[in-house]
Amino acid sequence: MGIKGKTIVVLGGRTGLLGQALCHAFTQAGARPVALSSQDCDILDPKSVDIILDKEDPDVLINAAAYTQVDLAEEEQEMAFALNATAPPLLATLAARRSIPFVHYSTDFVFKGDKTSPYTEYDETSAFSTYGISKADGERGLLKLGYDKTLILRISWLFGPGRSNFVKKILTLCDTRDTLTVVEDQVGSPSYAPDIATGTIKLLEKKATGIFHLANSGQTSWHGLASMAATLAGKDCTITPVPSSEYPTKAVRPHYSVLDLSKYIRTTGMTPRRWEDALAEYVQKELGMAPKA
Ligand SMILES: NC(=O)c1ccc[n+]([C@@H]2O[C@H](COP(=O)([O-])OP(=O)(O)OC[C@H]3O[C@@H](n4cnc5c(N)ncnc54)[C@H](OP(=O)(O)O)[C@@H]3O)[C@@H](O)[C@H]2O)c1
Repeated sequence: MGIKGKTIVVLGGRTGLLGQALCHAFTQAGARPVALSSQDCDILDPKSVDIILDKEDPDVLINAAAYTQVDLAEEEQEMAFALNATAPPLLATLAARRSIPFVHYSTDFVFKGDKTSPYTEYDETSAFSTYGISKADGERGLLKLGYDKTLILRISWLFGPGRSNFVKKILTLCDTRDTLTVVEDQVGSPSYAPDIATGTIKLLEKKATGIFHLANSGQTSWHGLASMAATLAGKDCTITPVPSSEYPTKAVRPHYSVLDLSKYIRTTGMTPRRWEDALAEYVQKELGMAPKA
């Protein structure tokens, strides 16, 4: 389907990291995004979403809204499951009633992390954390509903403009600290939100449905990502690698959650650019920083 001229309702589009990138990409592609936050409608109250869908009469419904606080989810399990597991199939039902595509996002944290090669769409999910389990339940709910115009994109390690993210936090910390410690035994695929947004458009154009993995190409550790960001930004900060055991968190994260992008590449004919190139664009063009001469 061509995107130009289409109306696209983006839940999470007004304030979310990914949602804002999606709305920007849709505008660039000549579509009319309707950007929403929890102030506009509550995905826990499908009636409030239904009213907006009646008013906007969209061609696509996108759910970029979620409970995304991975550690806090261990304390707020009920809210995490309500937003990440219960809401998605209810939203897909609203799209099904209108026979429009429904796009939903999931995460690499649905995987346990005990593989040593990239996770494919056909690998079993088996998360440790409440966040990961709730997102996996959301996927299962959508598959059980079986609406045939549903597209689920698993993405990972998101960074980009518009909202706080790991890269921005590291660069801010570098301004006040001489040294930082960052975990090195968790390896994954960084994803630049604007690249996920253009990738979403490519899949919509191909009328893709089912589960897809999407991230930037390549892999690194959190330490690798932090170090590269600091170098690209010219920060004088020593970033020391540490094992996860030295940085305990409430939620257990996978040690390895690199996503296999073959299905996306086969379907769209496009290979996402490497994470280092996307990071350079974010740090230097978006944040206006530069490496040391
Ligand atoms: N961030 C990552 O590293 C990452 C990694 C893998 C996958 N993902 C997935 O990618 C998707 C987007 O994540 P993100 O990081 O862009 O999220 P985010 O920045 O935390 O934004 C979440 C959005 O959801 C909205 N929202 C929360 N509760 C809502 C409710 N009850 N009703 C309506 N809207 C509500 C928020 O609106 P308010 O601002 O009004 O609360 C916000 O716009 C999620 O499915 C997430 O699981 C993210």
